[in-house]
Amino acid sequence: MKILITGGAGFIGSAVIRYVIEHTSDSVVNVDKLTYAGNLESLLSVDTSERYVFEQADICDRAAMERIFTQYHPDAVMHLAAESHVDRSIDGPAAFIETNIVGTYTLLEATREYWNTLEEPSKSAFRFHHISTDEVYGDLGKESGLFTESTAYSPSSPYSASKASSDHIVRAWHRTFGLPVVITNCSNNYGPYQFPEKLIPLIIQHALIGKALPVYGDGMQIRDWLFVEDHARALFKVMTKGEVGETYNIGGHNEKANIDVVRTICSLLEELVPNKPANVEHYADLITYVADRPGHDVRYAIDASKIARELNWMPKETFESGLRKTIEWYLSHQTWCSRVLDGSYALQRLGRYNENNE
Ligand SMILES: NC(=O)c1ccc[n+]([C@@H]2O[C@H](COP(=O)([O-])OP(=O)(O)OC[C@H]3O[C@@H](n4cnc5c(N)ncnc54)[C@H](O)[C@@H]3O)[C@@H](O)[C@H]2O)c1
Repeated sequence: MKILITGGAGFIGSAVIRYVIEHTSDSVVNVDKLTYAGNLESLLSVDTSERYVFEQADICDRAAMERIFTQYHPDAVMHLAAESHVDRSIDGPAAFIETNIVGTYTLLEATREYWNTLEEPSKSAFRFHHISTDEVYGDLGKESGLFTESTAYSPSSPYSASKASSDHIVRAWHRTFGLPVVITNCSNNYGPYQFPEKLIPLIIQHALIGKALPVYGDGMQIRDWLFVEDHARALFKVMTKGEVGETYNIGGHNEKANIDVVRTICSLLEELVPNKPANVEHYADLITYVADRPGHDVRYAIDASKIARELNWMPKETFESGLRKTIEWYLSHQTWCSRVLDGSYALQRLGRYNENNE
């Protein structure tokens, strides 16, 4: 199978590509614009594979998308390209509307045009897998419920509203045009290669240099955490075994308050990095409460029983085992981190990637 993966240079997309190349015999066309969040250095372990090819392109560029479909004849699309950071969506929503809504529409139209040229059995076997978030369901507040696949959408931020919109558009392309789609909505991911603006890598990096560990509001916002490699496995399973037109929620059964996540990182660092910066006695002393994010949702939690029951998928990592692996990964990949933090990873966009490779 040849899979066209959008956003493959991002955090989750790169985990999916590593999974496909390292654990299957399928091939991948990675279509990524390389925004600030795209980093080809996350794909060094696969980029010499004959089953992997990279195309730098914007999903909003219809002509480029059509050219890529014609050139590669994919059997499936896994659509992960998106603007993904809630804080950035508050500072500048335009890119979220453009990529997440217009880009998804443009990609769907290019896909539909290509799909209409396919003959059976390829036409029925084709899949468009849209990767989305549990944030489309909105805020559970302090209630004890869980998001199921039939929970009504109620997005709070420009990010989640743009993702909710793209989910609706994908469903309409199935219902109206018959495009064989599957949709997944997943909880917060963490793990290797996550851009250090997100909570877990940011806390690790700050702690290692003795910088304040910012926690929004009272830190009691609850998220359901999933190790990224478990997510990649789930996505591959849904793409290959999921039923057309269906939605699958993916979650880790790991509800944690943000402050507890930060405290757990601090205590793991006490064990793994006892040699602290001069200004630090205990990593937890660096915790600093900052003004809450506007519109901040209190609680997300996923009911992932459908994917367990129907596709036999369960996460392999507990939060404790996944977090330990994640911290160990960041400790042993400080060059990857510093190249992201000093911006040198972005030289790939200027075509100087290889000569600057570590
Ligand atoms: N990170 C999470 O916790 C999480 C949870 C659930 C769902 N998701 C969804 O999973 C997907 C991937 O998330 P992520 O955390 O890997 O995001 P990311 O920000 O790390 O990566 C996004 C990738 O998309 C690329 N991209 C952005 N705009 C593009 C465009 N116009 N054309 C082509 N490529 C473009 C970027 O260069 C980057 O490589 C997103 O759709 C996101 O909504 C993320």
